[in-house]
Amino acid sequence: MEIHSLTREQIAFFKDQGYLILKGVLDPQLCASARDLLWNSLPDNVQIRRDDPATHVGPFPESDSQTDTTDSRTGYRWQVRKHSTDADLINLLYSETLMGCAEQLLGHDSVRQPVINGSVMGSKGPAWPGGPVDPALNSEGIRGIYATLPYPESETRGSPDAAAHTDGHPFMLSAVGLIHDCPPGGGAFTVWPGSHKRLYPTFWMQYDQARIPFYDHMPSLKGILHSPEYNAELKRILEDTKPVDCWGSAGDVVFWHHRLVHAASENHSSVIRQAVLADYSRRDLDQLRLDPPQEDMWRDWSPEVQNSGSDYSASFAQEQRIVA
Ligand SMILES: [Fe+2]
Repeated sequence: MEIHSLTREQIAFFKDQGYLILKGVLDPQLCASARDLLWNSLPDNVQIRRDDPATHVGPFPESDSQTDTTDSRTGYRWQVRKHSTDADLINLLYSETLMGCAEQLLGHDSVRQPVINGSVMGSKGPAWPGGPVDPALNSEGIRGIYATLPYPESETRGSPDAAAHTDGHPFMLSAVGLIHDCPPGGGAFTVWPGSHKRLYPTFWMQYDQARIPFYDHMPSLKGILHSPEYNAELKRILEDTKPVDCWGSAGDVVFWHHRLVHAASENHSSVIRQAVLADYSRRDLDQLRLDPPQEDMWRDWSPEVQNSGSDYSASFAQEQRIVA
């Protein structure tokens, strides 16, 4: 909890690699409250039981599943968004410490503030029929509490590449915070270092993602549309970049850039991956998003970020789990 500002080295690393792991920056009491919110979201009649780890192994049985976009349990994924503007979750991820770090990256007194008891992600349903929920639509708080159930031991480990993606809504910076310890391979959050710099110029718009509208009578084409340059570069990234598993302890956070390739990977541990996710953007994102990708991809970031070079040590990169 001592971190109130990022060091030059941390900023340089974030700029170069597109992510930054911060240890122990979440309030332990509020992490406990977030875990309670997750478990207390369950009705009484479910098979999964908080005090019985044998019931934690996924996937959710049919009888425990539901597809409500603010309170969803399907397969191995458990996403509780209905509490996203509860004061405890706002205070957890928009704390003085994390807002301070976000404003160091995005600019002093520039970041959009959350609204306690405001509207929550998912309250308008999915972005299109059968599609994902848009994290920017009607969202005035964090994204939610996202959990991944452990895979059975018999399940073979899939490649993280299969789930690698960039997000399709406009935002600038995001955070994944662990509210429970998550060991290596436990599905904490996986990132592809440096991919933000390679993909940023391949988008048609600086913050948005082109979308095909959904029509009931023409359902074949829908959802997200990527440029050919994006598809080619993503393929190269997956071939030449070793992903980093951002495992850690309750209280750890990983910040990541909006164009970074990432995945909520499979959980091959014995504990449920329990995380909170939130976005940070400048209040004037509505103006910034009018522009195409810029020659200087850091134009909209703080002078501290703009003036930062790649001056971080090899040992720091190692701490951040970059494999040479
Ligand atoms: Fe994502």
